[in-house]
Amino acid sequence: MRRAVIILPTYNESGAIEQVIHGIEIISRAIKTWEIHIVVVDSNSQDGTAEKVLKLKKRIHRLHLLSTEKEGLGKAYIHGFNFAIEKLNPYLIFEMDADLSHDPKEIPNFLKKIEEGADFVIGSRYIKGGSIPKDWGLHRKIFSIGANSFIRLGFMKLRNTEWTNGYRAIKVWLIKNAIPSIKNYSGYVFQVAILDYALKNKAHIQEIPINFQDRIHGKSKINSFQYIIQTFTYVLLHSSFIKFVIVGLIGFVIDFGISYLFIEKYRSAVWLGTIISTESAIISNFLLNNFWSFSYKKLDHKLSSYIPNFLKFNLISSGSILIQTLGVQLAVNSFGRNLWYVYKVIIIFLVVIPYSYILYNKFVWKEK
Ligand code: GDD
Ligand code: MN
Repeated sequence: MRRAVIILPTYNESGAIEQVIHGIEIISRAIKTWEIHIVVVDSNSQDGTAEKVLKLKKRIHRLHLLSTEKEGLGKAYIHGFNFAIEKLNPYLIFEMDADLSHDPKEIPNFLKKIEEGADFVIGSRYIKGGSIPKDWGLHRKIFSIGANSFIRLGFMKLRNTEWTNGYRAIKVWLIKNAIPSIKNYSGYVFQVAILDYALKNKAHIQEIPINFQDRIHGKSKINSFQYIIQTFTYVLLHSSFIKFVIVGLIGFVIDFGISYLFIEKYRSAVWLGTIISTESAIISNFLLNNFWSFSYKKLDHKLSSYIPNFLKFNLISSGSILIQTLGVQLAVNSFGRNLWYVYKVIIIFLVVIPYSYILYNKFVWKEK
């Protein structure tokens, strides 16, 4: 029988913890194909959470308690993962809140997706059938929906609707590989980091709908300000899409600078200055994208892999130039030439960037 470990991080959850554990216990008994263990990772709660768990432990032998210092949610999970891997040798690990926001009755739905071949199953509040609590205040709704939309767009991963919710089932091989990269994200941003890692490493990710319940006991531990800052910086530093846009801007400066130099300073022919500057920008874009934006899937260090991909890159870039030229001309013909630069910026953001990002991903920096 395969073993799954459910990690329940707790900080002052004495109002809910017994009920959460009971809920899991009842479901576990009904599941015949998995042996389910629970690891409560308690960060030195002051309200008697650990004592309640110790009491239940006497009766439930698949319940374990790990006591740690209070270092944040991410750190608590890393401690829990390491404990589970060393002591229990599981095949699968669950993340789950210990405040009754996550219904244990969903556990079989996660297991089913894993049995069907998923490596990472995430409970989503934002797909059909899922929901956030109706009685959440407006600011909380905006906060949750806003954070998820920002991350989705920032990473250009529109298919992943849920990035922050911590109700998940993840295969242990994936967690073992991820730990070195994610172990320093000590706060709630850890949830974003582990999903980003899984996506970049081609794990098979599936979402299932969940109805997130508002907590009744105790209060949320999230520090919204810190969370926003950490999430924002995480996306800026890790999104290949945002890096790609920055590389494009650098390319624009190079293109402009070099053509200015040739045409104005050296008084070269305009066509010559334009060719040299455009090609310099293309070369810089190619190298920066390879070693920075798409560094996690960069080309092999072989000339035979660089040359054809560089040629494809040139071809796609020529397409961008063509689209821009035609688009701006078309707009000018329809609306007059006064605002040509506005049309240019709109076309770059709405057409050229998505077009080239998608094609580079498809033909140059392919998913391995
Ligand atoms: N051990 C430990 N240490 N547990 C913690 C800590 C900590 O420092 N901080 C929070 N927890 C536990 C809580 O006790 C709870 O069981 C769970 O982590 C979630 O924390 P909440 O305080 O209930 O936060 P939330 O409801 O706002 O969390 C939401 O956002 C998180 C981050 O994206 C949920 O969607 C979570 O599932 C999600 O991880
Ligand atoms: Mn909660």
